[in-house]
Amino acid sequence: MRLLTAIAAISALLTFTAHAEIRYEADTKIFRIDAGATSYVFGVNDMDELQQLYWGQKLADGDKFSTAHSNTGHAAFDLPSSTTPQEYAGWGAGLFEEPALKISFPDGNRDLVLHYVSHVIAGNMLTIHLKDIERDVTVDLKYAADAATGILGRSAVIENHTKQPLMIEQAAAATWTLPRGTDYTLDYLTGRWAGENQLQQEAVRPGLRVLESRRGSTGSQNAPWFAIERAHTNDQDSGDVWFGALAWSGSWRITIEQETLQQVRVTGGFNSFDFGYKLKPGEKLETPVFYGGYTHEGIGGASRLLHRFELASVLPQKPNPRPRPVLYNSWEATGFSVDEAGQMALAEQAASIGTERFVMDDGWFGQRKDDHAGLGDWYVNQQKFPHGLKPLIDKVRSLGMDFGLWVEPEMVNPDSDLYRKHPDWVLNFTGRPRTEGRNQLVLNLAREDVRQYVFDFLDKLLSENEIAFLKWDYNRNWSEPGWPAVAPDEQKQVYVKFTENLYSILRELRAKHPKVEIESCSGGGSRVDLGIMRYTDEVWPSDNTDPFDRLIIQDGFTYAYTPEVMMAWVTDSPNWANRRTTSLEYRFLSSMQGSLGIGANLKNWTPEDFATAKRLVEEYKQARETVQHGALYRLISPRGSEASVTESVSQDKSQAAVFAFLHSSQFGYPFPGLYLRGLDPKAEYKFHWISSQPEMPSPSDQLVHKTGQPDQASGEWWMSKGVDLMLRGDFQAAAFRLDRVGQ
Ligand code: GLA
Repeated sequence: MRLLTAIAAISALLTFTAHAEIRYEADTKIFRIDAGATSYVFGVNDMDELQQLYWGQKLADGDKFSTAHSNTGHAAFDLPSSTTPQEYAGWGAGLFEEPALKISFPDGNRDLVLHYVSHVIAGNMLTIHLKDIERDVTVDLKYAADAATGILGRSAVIENHTKQPLMIEQAAAATWTLPRGTDYTLDYLTGRWAGENQLQQEAVRPGLRVLESRRGSTGSQNAPWFAIERAHTNDQDSGDVWFGALAWSGSWRITIEQETLQQVRVTGGFNSFDFGYKLKPGEKLETPVFYGGYTHEGIGGASRLLHRFELASVLPQKPNPRPRPVLYNSWEATGFSVDEAGQMALAEQAASIGTERFVMDDGWFGQRKDDHAGLGDWYVNQQKFPHGLKPLIDKVRSLGMDFGLWVEPEMVNPDSDLYRKHPDWVLNFTGRPRTEGRNQLVLNLAREDVRQYVFDFLDKLLSENEIAFLKWDYNRNWSEPGWPAVAPDEQKQVYVKFTENLYSILRELRAKHPKVEIESCSGGGSRVDLGIMRYTDEVWPSDNTDPFDRLIIQDGFTYAYTPEVMMAWVTDSPNWANRRTTSLEYRFLSSMQGSLGIGANLKNWTPEDFATAKRLVEEYKQARETVQHGALYRLISPRGSEASVTESVSQDKSQAAVFAFLHSSQFGYPFPGLYLRGLDPKAEYKFHWISSQPEMPSPSDQLVHKTGQPDQASGEWWMSKGVDLMLRGDFQAAAFRLDRVGQ
């Protein structure tokens, strides 16, 4: 039952708001999907294999493909199974490329050759039924297309109809094949705690490039996202780009492979490392969804498509998520030392600058004085909150804010009542050490009793308190991923069932408490992907709140994820990460490129700080719809540059918001000219500073009027004549809005 629910839920990831056109031509056995500005074409070849034919710019309606023919192979060494670009290849018949599916049967057979049997087109979903040439093992390939963006979602359901159990050793959602070419650049994201989402670029070379997590969850070592550009013709906003994102919050793997005959293929799904999913007769396994898209508008265009897609088709409040409220979070101010009086005082100060949500972070529960104890004991700490959470929540609500709370449901400290009672509830191998990270162990959420415990305590917490928001944390990765309570050949199912149970808890909680919003946090940005984004309204990109480092983290983040979900706090200066000092204005403008939060210790603020903050929060509210839902243009990337500038344009082009940063000026060179993008060239736009002193720019030598800058001009002017900012010095920032006039 639980498995069926999980499958239904994963299938729901393929339900998009806008439908595309899916056609099958029986005479040629060709499938063609037209969506957005993209065509995706494949066919059944002479071997009855599914063979990819085209993925790229939308073709003319009348363009016809002839029947697919398998490739001949290359000498005796690269056989046709390897040289034919199969849509979803079983490991068999001499396949040397990355297989989509590898199975071991109990009789020792490990050969799997998948042939087309039939298909169904229903709405915007195409299901293709494949079967092994001999054994009764089937794979249903699912394709769904989003008409607005051309993004396809692909997944596979593997089913055992034989009379024996079998072992799935590797299972991908999909293989994407690019046009033959050797001139490709791969973009991908790497990171670590406090240094997430660093964009990397390298040539696609012969061989296999692996992006992955073996950590049990998404991890920040790589993000489950890729983009491949034509190397020599592309810039930020023009040229061919193929891109994809895997919707899975467990261990995952994406391989980018230029095979021996220079075909580039991208395969992604469950991580095959330490994988083994036993499928009993009659059982099925559904893979995660692997989304893929194409644009000829450069890497910037690719991220704009992904942002639109995430807002309209992925996030829980799709198709029109409400803009994120401005929140305050207590963590960097009070750490674990939270109590009723202290939080009430902070809440009053937070409310005074226009904050809409007050979030109490770690420290409110169990015997939680520091990170050594308490996780697992989700009762309110009596010393800190003698009357429960109600007085604080009432206070917060009376100040006009809603209330959010930090939880870390999947973890336990050995020093907790829960662990003392249920030491068998954690991931472990019998008789082996249990390696701690931040003094905590990982509860085995794959266990039904653990799943129920976690659901029940969260349900109780949300039922008994007026909680509008959960910050859902997950502060370590796995070690010793054993599940001793089940048979040895079923233990590796933990890699799938843990994540499915996490999703089921989130789904059921949201259904029962529909007003509650959730943030996915994992010691920063270690669990961000399109799978968790189905259930969470925002994410915490990094514990690193240094506003300068954040420019790079945010730049990388937005290649894959919409600024709507990118929570960004204004914290204290000097910032703990680099001991760097920056102005409050700089910190605000850095955070205002995403979903604004404040995490500073307000007790130390001066009246001037409060005035600055209040003014900037007001300014943010004027532009947040544009920042969170608009089209993002990277006018200057912070990577390898002293300057960094982003521009967001609202979907109806009625507003643009520009945020500009300078690390250090040198030799008196001027700040680069800014040529805006995406405006309506004929419309008139009025210039407005986003500043704590909007009428009198600070510092006062910023810009402009003196140098011939009008207050109002056409979109064409702002895009072609541009804007000259006079930023000078170190860690300077300025921002402005253009508001369309008279419509
Ligand atoms: C993680 C989060 C922080 C904070 C702490 C609390 O590190 O990323 O924002 O919530 O846990 O322990």
